[in-house]
Amino acid sequence: MLVQEKLHDDREFEFTKHDFERIRKLIYKHAGISLSEAKTDMVYSRVGRRLRAVGYNSFKQYLDDLEGGGSASEWESFTNALTTNLTSFFREEHHFPILAEHLKQLKKPIRIWCSAASTGEEPYTIAMTACEAFGTLKPPVEIIATDIDTNVLETASRGIYPNERVSKLSEQRCKEFFLKGTGKHQGVVKVRNELRNLITFQQLNLLDANYNLGEPFDAIFCRNVMIYFDKPTQSSILTKFVPLMKSHALLFAGHSENFLYVSNAFKLRGKTVYELSKTSVTQRGNETKTGDKSL
Ligand SMILES: C[S@@+](CC[C@H](N)C(=O)[O-])C[C@H]1O[C@@H](n2cnc3c(N)ncnc32)[C@H](O)[C@@H]1O
Repeated sequence: MLVQEKLHDDREFEFTKHDFERIRKLIYKHAGISLSEAKTDMVYSRVGRRLRAVGYNSFKQYLDDLEGGGSASEWESFTNALTTNLTSFFREEHHFPILAEHLKQLKKPIRIWCSAASTGEEPYTIAMTACEAFGTLKPPVEIIATDIDTNVLETASRGIYPNERVSKLSEQRCKEFFLKGTGKHQGVVKVRNELRNLITFQQLNLLDANYNLGEPFDAIFCRNVMIYFDKPTQSSILTKFVPLMKSHALLFAGHSENFLYVSNAFKLRGKTVYELSKTSVTQRGNETKTGDKSL
């Protein structure tokens, strides 16, 4: 019999290398997330919380049940536990003046997809940028904000944040886009309904074969999520983006993500901003023409 190497003796639950490997494989298959061994403690702590919550006393039993047809809701909780959701308003700020300029040149209505929206700061930043670009709280913009993690989407949809989350925003932006909590709501701000109404939140796994998001977009934000995926996964996601982008659309990436190494469908437009390469536009054009004929 295989002797399993325990990773620590002083832990509440036994956690072997084999348990870690099983979790690693499951989350890779389910969400595309590649976990390095450096994440062992994080995995123990986050999945350990699931064991406690559901009442298991061993990782092995929990994983046996999950693999042997665990409930959809436990799969969801398991996935939610292993995502990393760090984000902030106007993160990587240099993107937003570029987006504002882009928006002003487009035919309306404008469609934007925020593909790893986390707790909502990114789609609300996109919405604020659109309001500022058009000088109204009702810009001709529709934002679809998606994430695999249903917990963060709930937070995003609520649009309520501790004051510290907006502490770096200008007073003007705070006043224009947020309501300040008073009384029992002291210490939090709420996104104004007008901003909230520009956004549709929905769950979407970037690993899904089809995204079913309707008409192509004028811009896609895919920031700070590809870093969790390996190259083949990144490449297959980028391939699915191409038909979802209008020929002039922009694709915004995170600061440490370079799509040129994984796909030749895009060319660089500016720092971590991409557009479709000539070949992709031509291919798209042909597809459109073929589509036209069949009408
Ligand atoms: C670090 S956050 C980035 C948030 C935001 N885009 C930003 O740059 O501030 C990464 C997000 O990607 C989401 N994510 C991870 N794997 C995913 C997948 N397979 N499909 C969709 N979203 C995923 C996580 O749930 C998390 O909210």
